[in-house]
Amino acid sequence: MSDSATNDSTGTGRTGPASGPGDGTRAVRAGLPEPVKHEPTLPGPVFAAHFHLPGDPTGPYTYGRDENPTWTHLERAIGELEDSGQDGVETLVFASGMAAISSVLFSQLRAGDTVVLPDDGYQVLPLARTQLEAYGIEVRTAPTVGDAQLDVLDGAKLLWLETPSNPGLDVCDVRRLVEAAHACGALVAVDNTLASPLGQRPLELGADFSVASGTKQLTGHGDVLLGYVAGRDPAAMAAVRRWRKIVGAIPGPMEAWLAHRSIATLQLRVDRQNATALRVAEALRARPEITGLRYPGLPDDPSHKVASQQMLRYGCVVSFTLPSRARADRFLEALRLVEGATSFGGVRSTAERRGRWGGDAVPEGFIRLSVGAEDPEDLVADLLRALDETAD
Ligand SMILES: Cc1ncc(COP(=O)(O)O)c(C=O)c1O
Repeated sequence: MSDSATNDSTGTGRTGPASGPGDGTRAVRAGLPEPVKHEPTLPGPVFAAHFHLPGDPTGPYTYGRDENPTWTHLERAIGELEDSGQDGVETLVFASGMAAISSVLFSQLRAGDTVVLPDDGYQVLPLARTQLEAYGIEVRTAPTVGDAQLDVLDGAKLLWLETPSNPGLDVCDVRRLVEAAHACGALVAVDNTLASPLGQRPLELGADFSVASGTKQLTGHGDVLLGYVAGRDPAAMAAVRRWRKIVGAIPGPMEAWLAHRSIATLQLRVDRQNATALRVAEALRARPEITGLRYPGLPDDPSHKVASQQMLRYGCVVSFTLPSRARADRFLEALRLVEGATSFGGVRSTAERRGRWGGDAVPEGFIRLSVGAEDPEDLVADLLRALDETAD
């Protein structure tokens, strides 16, 4: 494992000698209940629209839109990973990453409030922006790079960060932005999708919410849609919970169980994929037809300095630009081990020409590559062969 793929010398996510078990140990045990003789280690999914509830309607389990024991185990697991100290972290799972993002935006903001979003974040944020504005909320945007959101923070109620940003892989200084936001009374949410909770722990950097799509590396097999919000402020999290109840954007028990099962291998997948991503980035950097190569784990990447101060691991996404749309399409077509698909974080490598969606401010030849768990030498060879075969 190279020091550039994981930001601690042990590769365990330990940040200090007294900080407890490593990330592999934490991942395999995350959220498991106390062992009960003759019961499975991870209890199976509980399929229930309602629970037996005679008499006074007291919890924990009343109605399936409000609580489910399978969610409880998963929420504990994610909470343990998002905050190694686990001091008062509450986690809520959602039907998708967008459900989780919307729950924070729409539960925390009121008409007349101001929110600061990144202008280079996930491509559905502009749709959320339009909806927020329709509700009378002022939306300001600024780029992730250079902590530019600081410049438009004055009077804001909520600051939304996405770091590393998708798909540009810029990184902002979470501690610095949190300090400035809190000084002017704003809450801070960080979209932690790209890093995963083993790559970055926004709550420990001071953020009020860590929000993510669990559809990506958290679950890692490209077969589950999921989202979550983790936070420490009971009042803010109560509002998020109320929003989930009102909108009903809940995960099915099967999805929640699959997600929990997948978390057991999170550290293995993340370390493998991230180490391979670094190798891929190094191999692609040597190619003359590639420009704008980005991977925060590369020591000379523009994001690396800040990333190394706040990230434990640098993610599995590499982005770069080929000279034209036609060349990029030919390259993607020629790949044998990389599936043409959107999304990222899965064990099977995927790539796409991001400009095909029309939502990101990227060149036509811009490619977002999600590095999977294939053997690194096979993947690098496939990428280099596809580049050679499609040369102009
Ligand atoms: C950074 C980021 N946040 C949020 C989302 C939304 O997640 P979901 O597709 O699970 O709704 C995505 C999806 O690609 C994403 O890349």
